[in-house]
Amino acid sequence: EIKEFPKRYDAVVIGSGAAGLFCASKLSQVGLNVCILTKEAADTCSTKLAQGGIAVALPPDDSPLLHYEDTLKAGAGLVDRRTALILVEEGVKRVIDLIRMGATFETDERGLLKFTKEAAHSVSRIVYYKDKTGEEVERALLDSYRGDIIEHANVKELIVKDNRCYGVIFEKNGKYYAIHAPVTAIATGGAAGLYEKNTNPATSTGDGIAMALRYGAVLRDLEFVQFHPTAFCEDDTCFLISESVRGEGAIIVDSYGRRFMGDYHPLWELAPRDVVTRAIENQKKITGGKVFLDFRPIKEKGINIKERFPTITEKLKEVGYDPEKDLIPITPVAHYYIGGINVDTFGRTNITGLFAIGEASCTGVHGANRLASNSLLECIVFGERTAYGMYRDLRFLSLDFEKIPFNVSPLVRKTTDENFTMKDLKRVLWKYAGIIRDGGGLTKAIELFRRMIRSNSSYEVKNGAVLALGIAISAMRREESRGGHYRSDFPYEREEMRFHSTFTFQDLINS
Ligand code: FAD
Ligand code: SIN
Repeated sequence: EIKEFPKRYDAVVIGSGAAGLFCASKLSQVGLNVCILTKEAADTCSTKLAQGGIAVALPPDDSPLLHYEDTLKAGAGLVDRRTALILVEEGVKRVIDLIRMGATFETDERGLLKFTKEAAHSVSRIVYYKDKTGEEVERALLDSYRGDIIEHANVKELIVKDNRCYGVIFEKNGKYYAIHAPVTAIATGGAAGLYEKNTNPATSTGDGIAMALRYGAVLRDLEFVQFHPTAFCEDDTCFLISESVRGEGAIIVDSYGRRFMGDYHPLWELAPRDVVTRAIENQKKITGGKVFLDFRPIKEKGINIKERFPTITEKLKEVGYDPEKDLIPITPVAHYYIGGINVDTFGRTNITGLFAIGEASCTGVHGANRLASNSLLECIVFGERTAYGMYRDLRFLSLDFEKIPFNVSPLVRKTTDENFTMKDLKRVLWKYAGIIRDGGGLTKAIELFRRMIRSNSSYEVKNGAVLALGIAISAMRREESRGGHYRSDFPYEREEMRFHSTFTFQDLINS
């Protein structure tokens, strides 16, 4: 049974990370009645875990154009130039907005912002707060938000009729509610949590992306997943060791203690993420041993590791390592979802009244490989623009707004008796659509994900399998290697494949 939620809203935002909160705050500041629905506690999200910081062209030796060029270079020929220009130019104003909203970043003795460096940036342009930038941003956004927020509200379906969205269905404490609104935004974050090894919180399972696909939204660039080269991942523990650690001087060595990144790229440890990731995988194969991060050069530069990287130091301590003394074993894991729901520059999807923001969306700014610390920037720049798009469209969408009945999406009905778990899904995605892919493995993955969708498994598995199938099919179709997508059977970039891929409901049912 689905009950109508008793309160009326102008706008519903799904997700309380940087993208959802920034957008909802802007809407609430102009007097709209906004409700954020969020799956767990409000601050359970990728945003809170962000370590490195936010890239922004604020330093005196930088400019939006230089930031734009670095973004294009990292994106391996697929960056959408228009949206990338918006990102770097408007990013400057939005970071200042964040500071106005109460976020604190590191400053020098004169009170001026300090900047750190990460891979593939030509200058130090990342504002940060220790290695807890995300925690600080999430805190400031939650503190300044004045609208409603419903925690532990798991959004499971959209209410869509004739390609127009009228709201959502969510589950809270085992009960189902419909919440109708003329404009709805999906800000549910990424999908790297669908991989067996990842840096993400448990909430990043691509829920909103899969849901949007099921109701007719066009998705884009699904094959592009960013694998972060330096995670600590042993037994059941997996966490990120920020790229800014390398930005401050840490080096990578193999099991012989040899610094090898120069064999792969002139920027050594600060080469683009996809390059460092594959170099580590290759070096492990060549040496038959582990690869390590050596923090000691940071100490030699006179930087206090514990003070600069308190979270990482603490987490390493919990697993028995001291970064001041020990070499830290590292491994590349899934980190960021580049693909997502296709949107225009104001967050509009192809479904009227439905918007998408942040990691759940695909604006094209990251191309085939995201430049470090451009993601939080994307959340706030397009969070603001999506608020504007929603505010504008609300004027005509509220004129003929009605509460329409809800129909269950046919995809989540059971057709076979097979049962799969989330663990099964994650294992298949990691094994066959992970760092190194090939046609044979992808064919197996496609078959397995199809079975999962038709199975008697939980809603979570089936919804996850919808997106996983989209990832595997898109990876199969891209017969080249580019950015985060690497095919051992097509190991080179092919000029004729320099295009964004799209994926629709039709692709899903025809597959
Ligand atoms: P999130 O912050 O993930 O928020 C998504 C929200 O949606 C959550 O509240 C979640 O609970 C909710 N949600 C999900 N599904 C549902 C559902 N079905 N119903 C209701 N609610 C739902 N980027 C940078 O730019 N700089 C960095 O330094 C950086 N470091 C990172 C470190 C780590 C460990 C990780 C994981 C990512 C990092 N990133 C960084 C990437 C960046 O943090 C994310 O891309 C960004 O925070 C995404 O924000 P978001 O608002 O789109 O999603
Ligand atoms: C990191 O701190 O290495 C993560 C930065 C990012 O994902 O942009």
